[in-house]
Amino acid sequence: MTQKLNIVILAAGKGTRMHSDTPKVLHQVGGQPILGHVIDCAKALQPQKIIVVYGFGGEQVKQAFAEENITWVNQAEQKGTGHAVQQALPYLQDGQTLILLGDVPLVDRQACGQLLEQSRQSLALLSFIKADPTGYGRIVRDANHQVTAIVEHKDANEAQRQIQEVNTGIMAMPTAQLNNWLSKLTNNNAQGEYYLTDIVAFAVADNIAVQAVVTDDEWSVTGINAKTDLVQIERVYQARLANKLLQQGVTLKDANRIDIRGNLTCGRDVDIDVNCVFEGQVTLGDRVQVGANCVIKNASIHAGAKIEPFTHIDDAVVGEQSKIGPFARLRPGTKLGTDTHVGNFVELKNAQVDIGSKINHLSYVGDSTVGKNVNIGAGTITCNYDGANKFRTIIEDDAFIGSDTQLIAPVTIGKGATIAAGSTITRNAPADALTLCRAKEQKSIMGWKRPQKIKKPD
Ligand code: UD1
Ligand code: CA
Repeated sequence: MTQKLNIVILAAGKGTRMHSDTPKVLHQVGGQPILGHVIDCAKALQPQKIIVVYGFGGEQVKQAFAEENITWVNQAEQKGTGHAVQQALPYLQDGQTLILLGDVPLVDRQACGQLLEQSRQSLALLSFIKADPTGYGRIVRDANHQVTAIVEHKDANEAQRQIQEVNTGIMAMPTAQLNNWLSKLTNNNAQGEYYLTDIVAFAVADNIAVQAVVTDDEWSVTGINAKTDLVQIERVYQARLANKLLQQGVTLKDANRIDIRGNLTCGRDVDIDVNCVFEGQVTLGDRVQVGANCVIKNASIHAGAKIEPFTHIDDAVVGEQSKIGPFARLRPGTKLGTDTHVGNFVELKNAQVDIGSKINHLSYVGDSTVGKNVNIGAGTITCNYDGANKFRTIIEDDAFIGSDTQLIAPVTIGKGATIAAGSTITRNAPADALTLCRAKEQKSIMGWKRPQKIKKPD
């Protein structure tokens, strides 16, 4: 039978070196708070309970994860990692406990799984080999290579400081033992802190085996303390996502110039040019091409569609074989059918556009229903807002809207209707007719002179 699992995430650190008003663990990696990555890892291990020990900026941190099933424990004063876990003790259930750090976003679920395997009867800790181990707790082993203690850098003697195997801070153990060991902690050390790491020596004294799992993935145990760490981790995270896409067969023109802040799902033969940013949940169907410098958020782009450079898409659906951009903006609620064209400097908002319709140049189409095979000429504006309320524009199948037309909503353009260029349409236009609304006549003033520049007196 699997044992009950508690996961304690230590996140009370102030993050002074971030020089920011935002609590450290709320800074983002891949568009998600650092702590969110740790919580995701914890959730994947299917624990009975997740306990987050928080301190600075507590309310803000709690609010950011209001939807998660988390037990929040306040560590009002930071007296060390052991003290932090002591605060969580009353909430721990029997079984096993895994300690994670809230500022280590790339924490590896497999490694945690290994620790849990090893810690049913023992204390298991995750270590790694660091070329420059300065600042870290050192893993002290005896002649038989058995771990006997962790000694913090500030407490270590010269010989111990030579040790390159260091503590990641991630460990797992039976809850009952943890309880027992935590009660014995003292702060009799160089930093006057209650060190969680002291439990290693207690385990050895109790004849409980200590297992060290050595990881070679340093990024997966790297904590974020400053913006320099944050940007490095962000790049590593992005490189890993890009690599995954490449392995799935996605073409990236430059794997170093794509940013995914959420989840990007791609079909076969997707091609993505440089400097694109994908946010939230984005799906690109088979053969979708995305040009350079596009920002695409919470969108579904269907098979064969082509997104030209500098296009911005937010909360929209693009139908198969459609062609969008360059310089197009699809705003929330926009749904484009198959084989639609949206060209340069066109803004769509909450517009549903059916199969084969084209809005190719310089237009604003908002709160609109556009039928099949409609052609909307350059400079067409749906005037959907009277300053207080919004109204819909309906353009039925096969309509042709001449350039520079204003459609004053609510208004319906009938099936097959033609609207003459330059019209301001305030009433419904009947099907299959030409509707025009312009100044009555065109007149010319012969011999008219353009204004001259007025000469300034010297
Ligand atoms: C700790 C380990 C050290 C290890 C290092 C890895 C101890 C005593 N030392 O060092 O062996 O090599 O991590 O980075 O455990 N925290 C709290 N409350 C506190 C103190 C810390 O919640 O009172 C949290 C911090 O927010 C952070 C984590 O614990 O997420 C680690 O704290 P930090 O101060 O970075 O680590 P050290 O104590 O220096
Ligand atoms: Ca510390």
